[in-house]
Amino acid sequence: MKDQFGRRVEYLRISVTDKCNLRCVYCMPMEGLAWLKREDILSYEEIASVVRTMAGMGLKRVRLTGGEPLIRRDLPDLVRMISAVPGIEDISLSTNAVLLADQAEDLKSAGIQRLNVSLDSLRPDRVDAISRRPGSFPKIMEGLDAADAVGFSPLKINVVLIRGQNDDEIEDFARITRERSWHIRFIEMMPTGANLDLSANSFISCAEALRRVRAMESIEPVEGPFGNGPATYYRFPGAPGTVGVITPMSHNYCDRCNRMRLTASGQLRPCLFGELETNLRDPLRAGEDLVPLIEETLRVKPERHYLIQGSAAGSGGLVALSQTGG
Ligand code: 5AD
Ligand code: SF4
Repeated sequence: MKDQFGRRVEYLRISVTDKCNLRCVYCMPMEGLAWLKREDILSYEEIASVVRTMAGMGLKRVRLTGGEPLIRRDLPDLVRMISAVPGIEDISLSTNAVLLADQAEDLKSAGIQRLNVSLDSLRPDRVDAISRRPGSFPKIMEGLDAADAVGFSPLKINVVLIRGQNDDEIEDFARITRERSWHIRFIEMMPTGANLDLSANSFISCAEALRRVRAMESIEPVEGPFGNGPATYYRFPGAPGTVGVITPMSHNYCDRCNRMRLTASGQLRPCLFGELETNLRDPLRAGEDLVPLIEETLRVKPERHYLIQGSAAGSGGLVALSQTGG
């Protein structure tokens, strides 16, 4: 699958639910969003069917996202169904880890190799404040311990930078990489409809984060751990882990984009932002061939996003990243 700009698309991010058990300040409003109706959400059989069709066209890697994917019942069943699709070489999962402790082993044996965990602070009170679901921190820590015990590798930790809320922990996060083989990734906050004030007023660039890390000790650029992403990575001399940065705002990396997204309601999105999406659900339910629809979606994949700091204009009506799987 190649788009008109020569980008090879072999990676699909699949949102299995739009709901979440947290309310991270940069993502969802406290009251949540207008949730999808149950009948509008793809069943596991339907998701697997889309994956089978796309695997026939060259899809190789899949990531399960949300909302929070672990709140959807029996997720390992879906993992097993996708693992069985010929051509799929890699299945990964993005989670907030609140429900991970109980599911880590099942997910691993079902075929998840690699995990991304969102963790924006190392302090319980701040995790409460940022995720707005008090009491999450101990569960997240149990989830991370379980992930280590089960042996997910590589393990990536996503830290969205928020001025005044976690920017004084950049060094603490970086320090972890000297002890553990974790890959800490600082992420620049992206503006969406629900976070305009915060993204305008509390934005921190990854350049600033890297300056602070470099002030601790020199770091050198390294090849990242296995993955599909836009992060660039650095390492302290001899450290087992790495520090990565994801810079959607300051350094657009759309020229390397290798992905499409499938929303929980079965819309195929060629770009995280923008209004373009193709309804695969209804044609799938009507027994139609999805191949021409997928080809057409690939053909119109935009060259880049047009996000503007503090403005919803470039996000194409997106209220929160949880609607598209981030
Ligand atoms: N800007 C940057 N990152 C975001 N995430 C969610 N919303 C935003 C945003 N507006 C992150 C989550 C998670 C990943 C999938 O995307 O923290 O780690
Ligand atoms: Fe939930 Fe992830 Fe959004 Fe936080 S960022 S509210 S964990 S979907």
